[in-house]
Amino acid sequence: MGIPFDKFDGVIWYDGKLVPWTEATLHVLSHGLHYASAVFEGERCYGGEIFKCTQHSERLRRSANVLDFEIPWSAAEIDAAKRLVIEKNNFRDAYVRPIAWRGSEMMGVSAQDNTIHLAIASWQWPSYFDPEARLKGIRLDLAEYRRPDPKTAPSLAKAAGLYMICTISKHRAERRGYADAMMLDWQGRVAECTGANIFFIKDGVIHTPIADCFLDGITRQTAIELARRAGIEVVERRIMPEELTGFTECFITGSAAEVTAVSEIADWTFTPGQITKRLMDDYTAESQPKGKAAAA
Ligand SMILES: Cc1ncc(COP(=O)(O)O)c(C=O)c1O
Repeated sequence: MGIPFDKFDGVIWYDGKLVPWTEATLHVLSHGLHYASAVFEGERCYGGEIFKCTQHSERLRRSANVLDFEIPWSAAEIDAAKRLVIEKNNFRDAYVRPIAWRGSEMMGVSAQDNTIHLAIASWQWPSYFDPEARLKGIRLDLAEYRRPDPKTAPSLAKAAGLYMICTISKHRAERRGYADAMMLDWQGRVAECTGANIFFIKDGVIHTPIADCFLDGITRQTAIELARRAGIEVVERRIMPEELTGFTECFITGSAAEVTAVSEIADWTFTPGQITKRLMDDYTAESQPKGKAAAA
């Protein structure tokens, strides 16, 4: 199991101050804990530079707005805080986890006046999936839960509450021997995985579901840009699960998962090929530092 996350060494940025890791705690009567009024980010720092740093800070603030609260720090202040956490923990390659939540002033469903808290932690998290399996392709189960209709839940926000169906689905997949699960959307179309977006390849063209009821991942956007830059056509469209038979390659994208090949989804099989490999390599190159950190 290793050391639990609340027992690591280092510092965490907490409401404007750096605090020792084990002291970054909150009260059990916190609205964020009881009612999932919390939003978070998952980012990676490569060679001392956080990839797409500002985009993540802006998304965090937008997610909070969807949950009807305002984070009392600007995107620029959040960027600076994240960089401070990396610097003070002496990291170059690390995962970064900002989280904002409603505090304890009110403990009913309504929490109009609760203080908004923000914490930023960072730790070393080399690969979300087994590094060897990332090239050969991971195996995905088909989840029982579906991504909710945007009229039913704030599906486009990176809101903590949306992850309960992801954890249930990932646990079920792991119990059944899979690395993760692919989820359909509320209409039965292919959506995404429990923590990553999904892409398919057929005849040299990349196909990916339209991100209208799940997170339009920053890595998803980067992969689309990299593919188009390499002259590979990318089509965003509705994809029904029956169509999976016709695709030859499949990969998933996410800040934690990066670009990871998929070899199986339930009974459908795929062979990681040239395009997947190319995007894995191009993403690795793209995420390397280009600014001051590169020269350091
Ligand atoms: C459910 C879900 N979908 C997609 C993604 C990919 O998003 P990003 O590429 O911005 O990390 C994530 C990861 O944060 C996720 O948790």
